[in-house]
Amino acid sequence: PALDAFPRKIWARLAARAARATQAVDMLYPSPAGLMALRVEVARYLQLSRGLDCRPEQVFITSGYRDSLNLITRTLLKPGDKVWVEDPGYAPTGALLREAGMQLVGVPVDAEGMQVEHGLQHAARARAAVVTPAHQSPTCVALSLPRRLALLEWAARQQAWIVEDDYDGEYRYVSRPLPALKSLDRDDRVLYAGTFSKVLFPAIRLAYLVVPRSQVQRFEDSARLFSGGAPALMQHIVADFMAEGHFARHIQRMRRLYAQRRTLTIAGLEAVLKAHVRIDSPPGGMHLLLRLQGRRSDRVLAEKMRQHGMFSRALSECLLTPRSGVAPMIMLSFTNIDSRRQASELGRRILALLEPS
Ligand SMILES: Cc1ncc(COP(=O)(O)O)c(C=O)c1O
Repeated sequence: PALDAFPRKIWARLAARAARATQAVDMLYPSPAGLMALRVEVARYLQLSRGLDCRPEQVFITSGYRDSLNLITRTLLKPGDKVWVEDPGYAPTGALLREAGMQLVGVPVDAEGMQVEHGLQHAARARAAVVTPAHQSPTCVALSLPRRLALLEWAARQQAWIVEDDYDGEYRYVSRPLPALKSLDRDDRVLYAGTFSKVLFPAIRLAYLVVPRSQVQRFEDSARLFSGGAPALMQHIVADFMAEGHFARHIQRMRRLYAQRRTLTIAGLEAVLKAHVRIDSPPGGMHLLLRLQGRRSDRVLAEKMRQHGMFSRALSECLLTPRSGVAPMIMLSFTNIDSRRQASELGRRILALLEPS
């Protein structure tokens, strides 16, 4: 997230709370499922912004996406279960599932997102699928409506679970944010994982998981066993921040800011790198994709950039099964680039690292 557009009201509240005397409530452990005031606010927010109809009891507050995914595997899956994951995909998803003993089924991604048909052909009896439908991580494409419906139909037929990782669905620049996959879920097969890391900031360590109605009791039992609960103080502050309308305003403000930064970053980079890269401007998300022209290695460039203090990741680093023939691409965050000049400067630093094609 952008450092210069930090939601300062959160720190102000923290400071005000710290200045007050310790209260009796501070002597209690927080509920493992989360603070009810925050669960109420999250449910209300999801209804309004993501078209998702859920009760506060279905919302579990966690300390991040991994915590949410861990809770899911502990509650609904067992070692040896097959799970579809996007390929390329978000590496921590695969790593965590593998560590939990799941058998990963890599499902390729194209311009419409996860190729559901491939999953059906190769592992129709899988127990679960993990997807990033709003902006596929890392390619940023949206899962098309026919694929959404096919995935939901498979899950209903197979009694399988779908995990919707909606880490940055709020940030869409060409239209209103797409409704969540969960909003189409008539059979209650989708577990919806959201996070405050992108819309607020990662250090806040708060995320949420919406579970099917039929599974609330099981998740309560799991949360009691596996979760120590997220810090109550931060949950109180975020609940107030949402209830008073600051959260919705913050997101709108960031959407405008990021749309501007995305445009000026593309212009600044293209001015310098045009002959060497093609820049895809995805309709949403927080990073650009730089397609390297010629036979360059994205992995080598990403590694060099990191050595020179620029954070980037190569598409080939996100492949579950390394393979050739995948277009070399670099992912580059634009959220902290605030002028075209700064973008061109970054372009020049990248240019200096490009090997001849
Ligand atoms: C694909 C994806 N899922 C989830 C997350 C959020 O993780 P967390 O809640 O642990 O910050 C991220 C953060 O970068 C992400 O890229």
